[in-house]
Amino acid sequence: MLAKINETATFLADKMPFRPKVGIILGTGLGELATQITNRHEIPYTQIPNFPISTVEGHSGKLIIGMLGQTQVLAMQGRFHYYEGYNMKEVTFPVRVMKALGIETLLVSNAAGGMNPSFQIGDLMIISDHINTFPENPLRGKNEPSLGTRFPDMSKAYPKHLRDKAKAIAQAHGIRVVEGVYVGTAGPTFETPAEYGYFRVIGGDAVGMSTVPEVIVAVHAGMQVFAMSIITDLGIAGQVVEVSHQEVQEIANQAQPKMTLIMKELIAQL
Ligand code: HPA
Repeated sequence: MLAKINETATFLADKMPFRPKVGIILGTGLGELATQITNRHEIPYTQIPNFPISTVEGHSGKLIIGMLGQTQVLAMQGRFHYYEGYNMKEVTFPVRVMKALGIETLLVSNAAGGMNPSFQIGDLMIISDHINTFPENPLRGKNEPSLGTRFPDMSKAYPKHLRDKAKAIAQAHGIRVVEGVYVGTAGPTFETPAEYGYFRVIGGDAVGMSTVPEVIVAVHAGMQVFAMSIITDLGIAGQVVEVSHQEVQEIANQAQPKMTLIMKELIAQL
């Protein structure tokens, strides 16, 4: 794996006019931020050695390197989901490459179903912690010490100073944000009412099919993480309604200007 990471990082480094320290993974319906990147260089995943190819509808699959305001960034438009059939090493490979390229802070967005009864559809949730219910941990297998420690601490996976900054930005702009625990699940089925209830009981505020693998690898690699969910549907006892991928994308599109603003201002403060 080390050789692959180095091969990919070297390929990309040759194509990059600068060395961003900020990486962004843009989730479902959150492409707006990508359109605001200037001086951009785009590299389709299909051209990147060792990169898996994104297959899910709504994910175009390219790396974008450029400026967000005054900050150099490397953004992933389209991520690899476990439910697509990739193994965890593939899902998280781009995060390893980001680290090899010098990324220190990883910003992640996603769409999620809300289970906290105080949440509303369209809310933005700052992720304070997560629960990993994927059947496989991306760090399973032989540990490569140069990539990180065997048993990484996860007590501060989502550092408070970044969450506090984001909250202050939201408040300054009158944007409602909530904060909570994200349950990462394999999917691709949305939850049954009983499963939403179960994820609520174990301590979850929202549930989605991504983010946790990438965050585990980012923390293992010593990166600091900030992550936010758009609450696109509710799985609250007595209020569980039918949910579709299209609905998730529509709600995410409506909420994305708020998310974009918070992410952009947070990046300016890093
Ligand atoms: N469950 C899982 N993933 C999701 C959901 C959900 O309710 N909404 C958006 N992504």
